Amino acid sequence: MVTSSAPGKVYLFGEHAVVYGEPAVPCAIELRAQVTAQRRDEGLRVHAGDLSLSGFTVKYDGDGTERPDIDVPDSLVDAAMGYINESVEQARDAAGIPEAGFDVTIDSEIPLGAGIGSSAAVAVAAIDAATRELGVELPPEELADRAYRVEHTVQDGQASRADTFCSAMGGAVRVEGNDCRGIEAPDLPFVIGYDGGAGDTGALVAGVRELRDEYGFAADTVGAIGDVVRTGERVLADGDIETLGNLMNFNHGLLSALGVSSRSLDAMVWAARDAGAYGAKLTGAGGGGCIVALDESHETETALEYTPGCQDTFRAELDTEGVRVEEQ
Ligand code: PMV
Repeated sequence: MVTSSAPGKVYLFGEHAVVYGEPAVPCAIELRAQVTAQRRDEGLRVHAGDLSLSGFTVKYDGDGTERPDIDVPDSLVDAAMGYINESVEQARDAAGIPEAGFDVTIDSEIPLGAGIGSSAAVAVAAIDAATRELGVELPPEELADRAYRVEHTVQDGQASRADTFCSAMGGAVRVEGNDCRGIEAPDLPFVIGYDGGAGDTGALVAGVRELRDEYGFAADTVGAIGDVVRTGERVLADGDIETLGNLMNFNHGLLSALGVSSRSLDAMVWAARDAGAYGAKLTGAGGGGCIVALDESHETETALEYTPGCQDTFRAELDTEGVRVEEQ
């Protein structure tokens, strides 16, 4: 039996635009998905504990074909189970044991589909645990690549390498197409606001793609996000948190123009700004889920606690450690 864990992430800059080859800067945060893999004779059984901070609980004990009886959109549950099935396939492939059976147990602190990297963390941890259980140890770069292939398959070809690379490596990373690398980052005072909801990543990415195909100005908006990221990288290297916040605000405006924000995400972003945060933006695919703000003080958390539509708020430290073994 092997248990591995991998961190979630927030996007400082660049989600959505990264799908079209622009750079993005995600940062790993100290919220982890833990996956235990144990060999069994054949097939796959999945046990999932709490897949959300407080929204819902999944108790699933099936063979990958039955559906758990829970109060979340079917598409989310199908996606969650798809990530596990595909991750196990990757582990079987890496170890050259195509018929290996597994009991897989997921225990995640990362809310599902909320823009802070639950799927990437689960895929990275699952592949690491399952390959180790088969006696194979993969370097984090290969885990990132295999987890990317999982996301690519489950999300109908609409995925970047950003989430999976960040989760496997930890810290702040820069991703542009296939070029993925770790970058230096100061300690950033992340505050997260969570509306209890989730966005459908595939549908949101498809919506941006349609806009971009239809309107030149939408394509320009995607390009402008790339410009914000390139400026943001330099500012990050200088450790200028105030300017970083301004650029996050700009990035949120551009994402909003592309139609991926929501009333509750905007409400949380404005509550954070009004409370004196350096900046705030949605993180991840959008449509619902989480915002990330920068604030050293408690003001943003307090403001978010009183913001209608915000279900949970918490501070998140940058996690410099990527995937790791918890028990072997
Ligand atoms: O919401 P998340 O954590 O799945 O992030 C999606 C980020 C996108 O840029 C919209 C898609 C991607 O694969 O990069």
